[in-house]
Amino acid sequence: MSTYLITGGNRGMGLEYSRQLKKRGEHVIATCRSSSVELNAIGIRVETDVDVTSQKSVMVLKEKIESTQIDVLILNAGISNFDSLVDFDYEKILQQFKVNTLGPLLMVNALQGNLKEGSKVILMTSRMGSITNNDLGDYYGYRMSKAALGMAGKSLAIDLKEKGIVIALVNPGLVRTGFIKSSQRGIEAKDAVCKLIKLIDNITMHDSGSFFHLDGSIIPW
Ligand SMILES: NC(=O)c1ccc[n+]([C@@H]2O[C@H](COP(=O)([O-])OP(=O)(O)OC[C@H]3O[C@@H](n4cnc5c(N)ncnc54)[C@H](OP(=O)(O)O)[C@@H]3O)[C@@H](O)[C@H]2O)c1
Repeated sequence: MSTYLITGGNRGMGLEYSRQLKKRGEHVIATCRSSSVELNAIGIRVETDVDVTSQKSVMVLKEKIESTQIDVLILNAGISNFDSLVDFDYEKILQQFKVNTLGPLLMVNALQGNLKEGSKVILMTSRMGSITNNDLGDYYGYRMSKAALGMAGKSLAIDLKEKGIVIALVNPGLVRTGFIKSSQRGIEAKDAVCKLIKLIDNITMHDSGSFFHLDGSIIPW
């Protein structure tokens, strides 16, 4: 049994990770701002009031989990807002950086003492953060915040290599959660997470600092 800590566990893919990992017998700690009926029904440890943009709330979480060793830290919480040169909202772009880029970095910084040799840190990212794959434009805040998360992940892989801690960025593809605001497109969260868990199981130190699609292929930066 391994210990998994997941951010944004109350809905979407975070909820699905919590469900599937609990089902296969793992020790799961789900964090969220507010819990949900679905998350409470799983029967795992839930830590509420964890806002990844708040250093204070992340430090409170750190105090609560004390010296618990984390085998897999899944930094899943994220937001997306449409923005373009026409529909430009500075504050919304800034908020995407706070949640998508600084949030995961803050969590790793706070919980680095809970990670041990062989622990994995999974950064949930998006192909939209690939500069090479950007052929549609728009979504400035989302694209830039996930591209910057890639840079954070690469530095973390270098900085934590000596401790034997593995960092990987994973793209789930288009997944039917509240995130994409359309029920017609994408695959079901349960199918995406099932594949993501298999991918995470197989990631090793050799892969640290890589940017994966859920089928295991490498996405160019
Ligand atoms: N769905 C897709 O097609 C897709 C594609 C590529 C990448 N991704 C990535 O996959 C991850 C999960 O996406 P999803 O589809 O599961 O999204 P979702 O259903 O919209 O869930 C987002 C989660 O993030 C949490 N969150 C947002 N802001 C937060 C904050 N400040 N502090 C703590 N938690 C916060 C939400 O909590 P609240 O309920 O409190 O808001 C929610 O639990 C994200 O990082 C996203 O960028 C998704």
